[in-house]
Amino acid sequence: MSSNSFQQAPFDPELFREEGHRIIDILSDYLRHITARPDTPVLPWQDPDKLAGHYADILKNGSNQEFGDFIREVIGHSNHLHHPRYIGHQVTAPLPHVALAQLCTTLLNNGAAVYEMGPVAMAMERNLVRMFSGMIGYDDKADGIFTHGGSAGNLTAMLAIRQVKSTHNVWEEGIREEFRTGFMVTDQSHYSVARNVKIMGLGKEALIKIPCDSSFKMRTDLLEEHYEKAVNQGITVAAVVANSCSTATGTYDNLEAIADFCEKRNLWLHVDGAHGMGVLFSDKYRHLVKGIERADSVVIDFHKMLLVPGLNTMVMFRDGRRSYETFAQKASYLFRKPTENEWFNSAKRTLECTKSSLGFVAFTAFKYFDREYFRSYIDSRYDLARRFIEMIRERVIFEAAVDPDANIVCFRYNPGGNDSETLNRINAALRDRIIRDGKFYIVQTELDGKLWLRVTIINPLTSEEDLLLLLETLEETAKGIQ
Ligand SMILES: Cc1ncc(COP(=O)(O)O)c(C=O)c1O
Repeated sequence: MSSNSFQQAPFDPELFREEGHRIIDILSDYLRHITARPDTPVLPWQDPDKLAGHYADILKNGSNQEFGDFIREVIGHSNHLHHPRYIGHQVTAPLPHVALAQLCTTLLNNGAAVYEMGPVAMAMERNLVRMFSGMIGYDDKADGIFTHGGSAGNLTAMLAIRQVKSTHNVWEEGIREEFRTGFMVTDQSHYSVARNVKIMGLGKEALIKIPCDSSFKMRTDLLEEHYEKAVNQGITVAAVVANSCSTATGTYDNLEAIADFCEKRNLWLHVDGAHGMGVLFSDKYRHLVKGIERADSVVIDFHKMLLVPGLNTMVMFRDGRRSYETFAQKASYLFRKPTENEWFNSAKRTLECTKSSLGFVAFTAFKYFDREYFRSYIDSRYDLARRFIEMIRERVIFEAAVDPDANIVCFRYNPGGNDSETLNRINAALRDRIIRDGKFYIVQTELDGKLWLRVTIINPLTSEEDLLLLLETLEETAKGIQ
């Protein structure tokens, strides 16, 4: 795209067609290349300042660079999530078809704050909310909304919880010193839960931490004890936040036991299913969320285990009216009837004013790929994690942190004879070398002071052979680390 043609015809449809075809060709070639397990590093690691400097030069060059070359350069510097040896953080390699839908939304730019500005997305959101409500086992009182990501989704639910469980109108009157809202969590809850508590101005005392068992599952036998302790300290416990599943180890909390406790104590049950709610599609693994229909609210990230490009999150409320209490705010320039519950004006219920057409993007996934497709995807990834654990245990120099519930595996190199600190250092160095070498992209996590290598088998193309090669590569690389 030369600067002249850009200035002369920025909205020229023929120029768009020409550039569009070129970009789709580049992306298609990229997909063919990257999914074939090339030697190209999964993450082409670069020093952050160096990369920023490089793009400073590119910016200075203005529009001299061909658009296609620019996109090729961006691809070259990116982390390749479609590479079958991308087994790092919980972000999906999106279905290319659905990525095309996302591309369409960026041109149409219908922001779904109000129905008028994003009618299709809102209509589609409505249908997806119905679909997932049925899958969860809710009745038709349930309702939900989309947010940009699970962190915002958790905040949306937590604000509703505080509003519902407060004895005064906290939204209008603010926090009262004598009314200290508390959330029961574990140290395996996603950091957004703790961050949200602080965003809400509740302070760290509002986080009532329930210990976990050796598989990082909430100790439900300790709920009562911690509840009483919090109450004695003057905290009004509002909710239990359960993990379905936890971020670090992919462990599912026992929803039935937590729901029983919530019922007994009249607490809200919020389920953070950002990663693990894909099991709703699976006959084999759905038991991991047994009792989910008793949750008052559930967060589901479509950009994690449902193959949709990010960010794309659904927040479901068992009693849909509760979702309107989160932001009980008047905005007369947007809403003609500010006090009415209108499902189609999403800004009444989300943090965002303008939003992407999240409903349209997610809808595309479930229109073109049926339940059977998602079932087999989920089953295969969860099965492979179980196989990977066997492979780890077959080799004495590796150990696993815990048996996986989901498709997340924490393990480490442990040839024996090292103290804990040395082992941590060796494994941190191992991960560093592996990702800089580029054959794999894996991450790390700390559990009870021990550093673990962590993989999420999220890419649909990752195979047992890839995981075998990972273990062999780790073993070989470890030889060079003291
Ligand atoms: C359990 C859980 N909840 C919430 C989040 C936050 O989601 P997002 O990155 O979409 O904000 C994550 C992210 O990894 C997660 O694993």
